[in-house]
Amino acid sequence: MEFKIASVVLLGLSLTACGKAPEQSKTTQTQPQSASTASNPAMEVSKDYHSFANPEQIKVTHLDLDLDVDFSQHIISGDATIQFQRIEPDASTLILDTRDLSIERVTAMGQDIPFTLADADPHLGAALSIEVPAKVEAVTVSYHTSPQASGVQWLTPEQTAGKQQPFLFTQAQAIHARSFIPLQDSPQVRVTYQATVRTPAELLAVMSASNDPATERDGEYHFSMPQPIPSYLIALAVGDLAFKPMGERTGVYAEPSMLEAAAKEFEDTEAMLNVTEKKFGKYRWDRYDLLILPPSFPFGGMENPRLSFITPTVIAGDKSLVSLIAHELAHSWSGNTVTNATWRDLWLNEGFTTYLTYRIMEMIYGPEREQMEFVLGQQSLQADIASLPAADQMLAIDLRGRDPDDVFSDIPYEKGALFARELEQKVGRDAFDKFLMGYFEHFAFQSITTDQFIAYLNDTLLKEHADKLDAQRIQQWIFEPGVPAGAPMAHSDAFTKVDAARDNWLAGELKAEQIDTANWNTHQWLHFLNNMPESLSQAQMTELDNAFALTQVGNNEIAHSWLLMSVNNWYEPAFSRLHDYLVHIGRNKLVKPLYQALSKTEKGKAFAKQAFTEAKPGYHPLTVKANEGYVE
Ligand code: BES
Ligand code: ZN
Repeated sequence: MEFKIASVVLLGLSLTACGKAPEQSKTTQTQPQSASTASNPAMEVSKDYHSFANPEQIKVTHLDLDLDVDFSQHIISGDATIQFQRIEPDASTLILDTRDLSIERVTAMGQDIPFTLADADPHLGAALSIEVPAKVEAVTVSYHTSPQASGVQWLTPEQTAGKQQPFLFTQAQAIHARSFIPLQDSPQVRVTYQATVRTPAELLAVMSASNDPATERDGEYHFSMPQPIPSYLIALAVGDLAFKPMGERTGVYAEPSMLEAAAKEFEDTEAMLNVTEKKFGKYRWDRYDLLILPPSFPFGGMENPRLSFITPTVIAGDKSLVSLIAHELAHSWSGNTVTNATWRDLWLNEGFTTYLTYRIMEMIYGPEREQMEFVLGQQSLQADIASLPAADQMLAIDLRGRDPDDVFSDIPYEKGALFARELEQKVGRDAFDKFLMGYFEHFAFQSITTDQFIAYLNDTLLKEHADKLDAQRIQQWIFEPGVPAGAPMAHSDAFTKVDAARDNWLAGELKAEQIDTANWNTHQWLHFLNNMPESLSQAQMTELDNAFALTQVGNNEIAHSWLLMSVNNWYEPAFSRLHDYLVHIGRNKLVKPLYQALSKTEKGKAFAKQAFTEAKPGYHPLTVKANEGYVE
């Protein structure tokens, strides 16, 4: 039902989009939505509006971190030695980003040098301007973080699986690296880094860098990241961690009690790595390990290079949610090797990664699974299109004056992937794979804008397949809302019987317990539940629950769908599970829709407030910020 309504909206948008096709033919500086007006001056497409840094004058190239992690005060302190290159030979001010950092001193060659910390902007933090004497090519900033740093979460022992030791992790994307390191916090600035991190001796530190699985656990750890990476990929975690290899180049770090289950769940990671590099070009990052975080981790996963950070909520016991691993691994190509130059271009990262995720899932688990995941992804995209304003439905999105955290949707992901799929279908898979391999090679270790991508597409695929591709349609995909009419449509035979079962049950022709669900997989359950009508009776909810014990279901995604239905239909027998779910899981994608649904009624809000108050001390700052508005 939801699906059908969304399709109508989608079609409406497509027609509108076709009706006012953009007139321009040159693709390099033309964005229909960026026309200059008094209140909305023309956008500079390569400018990063989310950083105060001045890499066009002086560009940071390498970081040397020497840090102490203090669990008693919730502070990271130490020195960041910053090497830079003058792009303008006479430039004398280095501007760095900071947020809630205390800057103690700045030195160059052992001498104090002057600096100023500007007033803070609510989204961007405070610019740190450092006067760099001529010939100086590195400065050392001595600083400490605030206990409230937006990119750091400090967990008490009770908030971990082992309950004995505290835990810390950072989450830098999009603009939170500046809350724990003073740096040029822009994806267009790539740095190599080295780090020494001191922790309590019984804990292990890991970073998005070389991690030696055999390192002695002694409270002092050394890291090196020899490939240049954007700041949002710098990451640190500290806790009672153990390591288990999964393959030659892959392994998993987790708290000891989670280690076996994680290694089993994600045992196909090595195979994923192997098939991806065969298709899309060599893996450029040496090892690929996973770090399993406590359940408060606010995302499903984060593609920190060499060491993806992963929520434990996907350890389902049956590999049903491992597309997350395929996704974070795929970022090693689309994202970490070729990066968005500004947050407006995020779709280049997430769209191609989502496309690669589907391809990896198909190679490892077969086309039937890929088709089911494509249907679920497309439905989720259609729901977002139905609810987002047109301006937020473009792939290249105007984020000026906004916090990138506030504009998170399926558009860059699923619309981006659908665009890539259309290109693939038009030119054929072999030609498209060749294009992607060339694209990753051509822009390796660079950060690019949407316009650079379009120019490259024009020079390569569009030239070679002028008979099959059309520049105007590409403009439409990137700069118009909705999805162009005639885009690829997802279909799964495995869902046909699920649709029939739902229809028959809703029509009263079949009792829930008569539905033959014995061989249903997670995706079929999700499809069954996600496409129920908005409103069901208490008798219908009870019947489903009695037949399938949905309130007790172990799979966190299925539980999410069921709990959302339970809120929308005020099905109280599920509410103690709902409370427990909200208090124990901090992954924003799983909790936010529940808070949002609860906030629609007064009694829902009261329930949400109770859960939120209990959960808040354990939530990540990002999850707090994203949901506090629903419980006020
Ligand atoms: N890089 C993203 C997470 C992210 C995006 C953090 C933007 C901050 C700003 C990561 O790769 C991601 O997409 N995670 C998804 C995974 C899912 C689409 C498989 C998530 O966390 O839900
Ligand atoms: Zn991603």
